[in-house]
Amino acid sequence: MSGMKQWEAVDAGWGRLAADFATLSEPSNVREYVGLHHALGVAVGDRLLDLACGAGLALELASLRGAQVAGIDASPRLVAVARDRNPDGDVRVGDMNELPWDSASFDVVTSFRGIWATTPNAMAEALRVLKPGGRFGMTVWGHIKASPGAWSLSPFTLAAEPQVRNQADMNQMGRPGVGERLLADAGFADIERLDIPFVWEFADPEQFARALASTGPAYEAIEQVGAEEFHRRCVELAAGHVRDGLPLRAKINVAGFTARRPVEVPESYEGDFTGSFLGWYPPSEYAEQSRQADLDEDGFVWTVTKLWARMPGAFDDLFALQRSAAKFGGLSLRQRGVLTTAMAATLGDSACAYAWGGKYAKWADDPDVPASALRGDDDALPPDEKALAGWARKVVRDPNATTSADVDDLRRAGFTDDQIFAATLFLVLRLAFSSFNDALGLRLDQAVVDKLPAAVRDAVTWGRAPI
Ligand SMILES: C[S@@+](CC[C@H](N)C(=O)[O-])C[C@H]1O[C@@H](n2cnc3c(N)ncnc32)[C@H](O)[C@@H]1O
Repeated sequence: MSGMKQWEAVDAGWGRLAADFATLSEPSNVREYVGLHHALGVAVGDRLLDLACGAGLALELASLRGAQVAGIDASPRLVAVARDRNPDGDVRVGDMNELPWDSASFDVVTSFRGIWATTPNAMAEALRVLKPGGRFGMTVWGHIKASPGAWSLSPFTLAAEPQVRNQADMNQMGRPGVGERLLADAGFADIERLDIPFVWEFADPEQFARALASTGPAYEAIEQVGAEEFHRRCVELAAGHVRDGLPLRAKINVAGFTARRPVEVPESYEGDFTGSFLGWYPPSEYAEQSRQADLDEDGFVWTVTKLWARMPGAFDDLFALQRSAAKFGGLSLRQRGVLTTAMAATLGDSACAYAWGGKYAKWADDPDVPASALRGDDDALPPDEKALAGWARKVVRDPNATTSADVDDLRRAGFTDDQIFAATLFLVLRLAFSSFNDALGLRLDQAVVDKLPAAVRDAVTWGRAPI
C-alpha cells in the first residue's frame, strides 16, 4: 500500500465483494435515488455525472429518465459493474477530488452518500464541472442514532477506534447547518435541504449479514474481528428484528441537499447595459457568438442581441420564417421596409421604426420615403408601397376589421394572392417581434439612432427613448 494515494486504497474495501454489493445492498437505495432525481428534475437531455457512483444503479435510473450519464468511482471492481449496467455511459475509475472532465460539462451532478465532510474538494470539483446554472444534488447520512433502523449500521463500530472516529467525522455533513455551510463555502447557490427516503430491506438475517459485509466500512470491522465473527454478529443482531412474513426493514435518516452553480456575469460583460426590463443574459456559446458578431460588425453589442441571447436560436428561427415569407412573395427590400416601418409607426415601436427607417432610407436612396411612412401621410411613396403601408396599418390596428375590399385594393396595386399572403405573414411576424421587444421594455442603442438621417429621426415622435 505504500506510495498509494488515499483513493487508490478504496477498492480493497469497496471492491472485494462487488457483485454482492451490487445485488444485495445497492438495490435497497432506490428510494433515495428516485427521490433525489425527482427533486432535481432529471430529464431527457440532461448530461448527468454521479460522483462515487459505486456499482452504477443510480446512473441506470437516471438514464431511464432520459439523461446522458457519466460516473466516477475509486473502485475498479465496482466500476466494472457500473459499466456493465450502463454500456452507453462514460464511467471512469478515479478520484472524485480531481475530476477528469472539463469545466462546465454537466447539467446535473449527483452524489449518494459519496461526498463527506472530510472530502470538501469533491464539492469544489462538482461546482467546476457543472455548467453555470447547473443543478447539484447529494445525500448524506442524517441523525443515524435517532433512526428506527440504526441497529443495521451498528456492526460498523466493530472497527478499530480511529476508524470508528473517522466514520463519525465523515458523517458530520447531515448535522444542522454543516452541509449548507460546506456547500456555500464551495461556491454553490440556492442551497436547500430535503428529507430523502431511505430504507434497507433484507429477506432474512443471513442475507443482511452478506449485504452488510460487502460494504467498505464493513471491511474495516472485518479487519478487526474477522469475517466469520462479523457475519455471526450480524446474524445475531438481525435475528432480533425479524417480523413474521415480512422482510427485515431498517429505515435510516438520510438528508439531501440541492443547489446550483451560480450564473456568473463574465468580466467582459460588465457595464454592458441590458437595455430591457430583463437582467443579464446567461452566458452561453450562442450568446458569446452573437455578442462577438455585433462587436466585429458595429463595435458595440445591440440591446436586441442582449435580449434575445437568452434563448439560443429563437431569434434565428423567427427571422428564418420572415425571410421565407419574403422570398415566397418575391417582396423587394423596399416593400419589406414599408411594411415594417408602417407597422412600427402604428404600434408605436420606436426601436423598430428607427432601425428599419434607416434601412428603408438606404434602399429608397431618400430619407423622405421612410419619413413619410413613419409620419403616416405616405406622400413620398409609390403606389405599391402606399398600398402596403395602408394594409399594414389596418392589420396592426385591428385584424378583425379588414374587409375583402381592402384585399381588392392590394390586388389593384398589382399584388397576387400569393404576394398578399406573403406580405401579411411577413408583417405579422414583424409585429410579433416588435410586440415582444416592446413588452419587455427594449430600448434601441443611441449609437444606432445617431447615425440616422435627420428626416427619419425627426419622424419618430413616440415609443421608448433610445439608451
Ligand atoms: C457509500 S458508497 C456509495 C456508493 C454509491 N453512491 C451508492 O449509492 O451505493 C461510497 C463510494 O465512494 C467510493 N469512493 C470512496 N472514495 C472515493 C474517491 N476519492 N473518489 C471516488 N470514489 C470514491 C467508494 O468506492 C464507494 O463506491
